[in-house]
Amino acid sequence: MDFDVRELERDGVYRLLTAGVQPRPIAWVSTQDLLGVANLAPFSFFNVASVAPPLLAISVLNQPSGRDKDTLANIRATGELVVNIVSAELAEAMNLSCGAYPAEVDEFDLAGVSKARSRQVKAPGVAEAPLRLECALHDCLTLGAGPGGGNLVLAEVKHVHVGDGLWREERLDAAGLRAVGKLDGEGYSLAELAFSLRRP
Ligand SMILES: Cc1cc2nc3c(=O)[nH]c(=O)nc-3n(C[C@H](O)[C@H](O)[C@H](O)COP(=O)(O)O)c2cc1C
Repeated sequence: MDFDVRELERDGVYRLLTAGVQPRPIAWVSTQDLLGVANLAPFSFFNVASVAPPLLAISVLNQPSGRDKDTLANIRATGELVVNIVSAELAEAMNLSCGAYPAEVDEFDLAGVSKARSRQVKAPGVAEAPLRLECALHDCLTLGAGPGGGNLVLAEVKHVHVGDGLWREERLDAAGLRAVGKLDGEGYSLAELAFSLRRP
């Protein structure tokens, strides 16, 4: 089967891309607005973009209403965000935080997670997260104005907090993170069948 993407409906493109590009890491992004109201939401259009500078890429898609998602509005207003990694234990809380709640709703309360004070940004992190990456906005690239388009946030990592017991023998215990990945639809994964390959 072959597809000329120009002949597909937007929803068909979405389903093909999200089913094919998986598992995707999840950035559970915490921000706050200029009044200090915290916000928390997950984003799976996410990855490491470069190391020097240390950049993460997160794509915030447009809402049908045209109004910026709270995460994007807060990042634009404050220039700051925290990327929290979602462990298996936090999957349900992460899912609770993804609803389209009004800006004044603090999703930390809604998801039942606690705030951790950040070192280099004002936005709090998720205290229970196994890894927290405090970031400053580096750049924001508009990818498309309409539905399905969005804004690619390039976030520079300023400070990394590794959870208790996850720093072993001078390295991050990556398996110990039990990081949840995003599959298509309502699917999630854990890297429980991980294997290694030596590079040529
Ligand atoms: C696992 C998961 C991954 C998601 N990934 C994205 C994404 O990459 N980009 C996006 O715009 N929305 C994504 N969403 C939806 C947002 O989390 C949702 O729109 C949320 O309400 C945004 O919250 P905010 O308005 O507080 O920023 C995802 C939702 C879930 C549950």
